[in-house]
Amino acid sequence: MRSTPFYIIGNWKSNKTIDEAVVWFKEFESLWKTMPFVLSQTTIILCPSFIHLRVLKSLIDLSSLAHVLHLGAQTLSSSKQGAYTGEIAATQMKDLVEYAIVGHSERREHFGETDAMLEQKLTQAHENGIKTIYCVQDKDQSIPQNCDLLAYEPVWAIGTGKPATIEHAHEVAEHLKAKSGRNLGIIYGGSVTHENVHDYAADEKLSGVLPGGASLKPGDFYNLIKSAVQ
Ligand code: PGA
Repeated sequence: MRSTPFYIIGNWKSNKTIDEAVVWFKEFESLWKTMPFVLSQTTIILCPSFIHLRVLKSLIDLSSLAHVLHLGAQTLSSSKQGAYTGEIAATQMKDLVEYAIVGHSERREHFGETDAMLEQKLTQAHENGIKTIYCVQDKDQSIPQNCDLLAYEPVWAIGTGKPATIEHAHEVAEHLKAKSGRNLGIIYGGSVTHENVHDYAADEKLSGVLPGGASLKPGDFYNLIKSAVQ
């Protein structure tokens, strides 16, 4: 049993129609109803696409998963609301999400997000009461002062089926925590599954995991949570 908080953050990336998201939720909820866990130290966050948030929030609020399953965004606009076609501002999403991922490597690589833009995103999130999960890809990257959680996600481990060893994740987490100069929770992400999550959860230097592929099927995500808390 852990004595410190542990976060399980599912990142659906650019997957699922609205109907598929509803089916996912219903299946996850029926698994949960059959065998709910005691989640004293564990927070479960699901980060679907923006199109899913409204319907998932309504379903969660009316279900046995209210206060169990929390919602997060995969990114947010670096600007306030206004004339920014295609962007979704923190003010627009603050009633739907409690968390936002900022600086995922896929955002940095495919959408040219820079550290300066990411700082603005953090500011927008905090001005609107959204907690942030800031991603870095290696231990030399700068750590912003105002992120709430820091996710270490090496690109060689993302979607490759080759997760970082627990020793590596532990060492980097220790380094990042010391570098941040505060008691910042460090999350590990990259090919986390129900088969390997237990080792990460057993390490008190780590404050959570960020599974992508393993959050897409309700049974996989449920089993991952089960393995983490047991
Ligand atoms: P993965 O993705 O679990 O599919 O490797 C993790 C992530 O990119 O957040």
